[in-house]
This record gives sequence, structure tokens and C-alpha cells, in this order.
Amino acid sequence: MAVAKKPTLKRQDPSLPNNNMLIVGASGSGKSAFLRKTIDFAQKRIVAWDPEEDYALPRVTSIEAFLKLARKSGYGPIRVAVTVAPTEENFERWAGIVFELSHAAAPMAILADEIADVTRVSKASYYWGQLCRKVRKYGGTLCAITQRPQEADKTIMNQVEYTWCGALKTQASAKYMAGEMGVSVDELQSIKNIHRKQIQFWIRKGTEAAKMETIKF
Ligand SMILES: Nc1ncnc2c1ncn2[C@@H]1O[C@H](COP(=O)(O)OP(=O)(O)O)[C@@H](O)[C@H]1O
Ligand SMILES: [Mg+2]
Repeated sequence: MAVAKKPTLKRQDPSLPNNNMLIVGASGSGKSAFLRKTIDFAQKRIVAWDPEEDYALPRVTSIEAFLKLARKSGYGPIRVAVTVAPTEENFERWAGIVFELSHAAAPMAILADEIADVTRVSKASYYWGQLCRKVRKYGGTLCAITQRPQEADKTIMNQVEYTWCGALKTQASAKYMAGEMGVSVDELQSIKNIHRKQIQFWIRKGTEAAKMETIKF
């Protein structure tokens, strides 16, 4: 893969803060609204796996184009959303390139949208697993997003500091997330979204108690 030519920095610092996030909610639950408030989309290094073309970033539509851009960027700016067929193979190639980019320089924000389509519950693919486990020590921030947490890889869930949960569609998701957030299914589902006026969600930092918050538009 070889994105960057020579690593010049000591690129593993276990004392760096963990800002990794898991974002879970049905369509329209406010995932994007929350991310727009939380992530600086104007930052110099930001890379998205963006199958639905949700993010306002320069876009490439092939892994080859992404790799070319990554090689050109080296340790410098790279701002790109990757929109390709959401296959496990493409996702793993994307993760491999992002892993090298995150190793090359920091800070860097990484968004991985609808990971349930491209990961498995049983075992993380190699580079996705590496990325989940090491990105924090490289000074990066990884946001993994899904509507179906119970069907997605668990590696990221063990590596996040923040868990965000908006309105959910299925009982299976609600049950799963109630466990993750440490609240009852009823509490979890008590959030009220008012169209175009507000979204509510639960957010949990580390092992602290989850809190309900509101974004008003
Ligand atoms: N800036 C905004 N002003 C008013 N309503 C908004 C704004 N951003 C999002 N919304 C509304 O908030 C809800 C959540 O949207 P969104 O964040 O796109 O959901 P998701 O990403 O989870 O699918 C939608 O009903 C959307 O219309
Ligand atoms: Mg969205």
C-alpha cells in the first residue's frame, strides 16, 4: 500500500486522549446534525467512508483515486469522502489506506458510515481492526456510524470513548443499545424528535452514566 514514504515521528503515544465515537440511530435521528456540531469539517485531514454521499467534502468514486490522493498528500492536507460500492473488500482497502494516512500525520478525523453493511459481528477485518485499535495513539479520531449496531463489528465499540444514540427503528437495535448505554429500553426510546425543531439523543462518555441531550434548530 505504502502511502507515506518514511515515518519520521514516533507515531505511537498511548497518553493521547480518546475521542473515538460510535454514532447509532435510525435515518433522520440526527446523526449528521450531531456530527456537524461535533466534527470540524474544515480541518486539514479528514477522510470519510461515505456510501450515501452525506458529507460535504471533495469526493472520489474509486479506491484507486483515493490511493492516488493519499500518496500525493503524504503528511499534508487530505480532505476526501470516498463513495464506492459498499463491499467488505472495498471497505478493507479503504481502511488500509486510512490506517497508513493516520499513521503518517495527525490530527486526522475519520468517518465510517454504515459499518453494518461492510463489517461482520464475528471478527474485524485486518486493517479495520488495526485502525480501530491504533488510531487514538496516532492522534486521530474515528467516528463509526450505523443504524444496525447489533449487526456490526464489535472492535470499534470497545475502542470508543463516546457513544451517541438517537431514535431507533427496531426492537433489536433498541435492546442492544440500551445495554451499551446502560439505560432501560423504555428510557432509551423516550426521546422526542420534533421535525425541523429539535432532535434528542443519549450520549455516554466512557463508563459515566448516559445523559439525554437536545439539539434545537
Ligand atoms: N440545520 C437544520 N435545520 C433544521 N432541521 C434540521 C437541520 N439539520 C437536520 N435537521 C433535521 O433533523 C433531522 C435529523 O437529520 P439528520 O441529522 O440528517 O439525520 P440522520 O443523519 O440521522 O439521518 C431531520 O428531520 C432533519 O430534517
Ligand atoms: Mg445522515
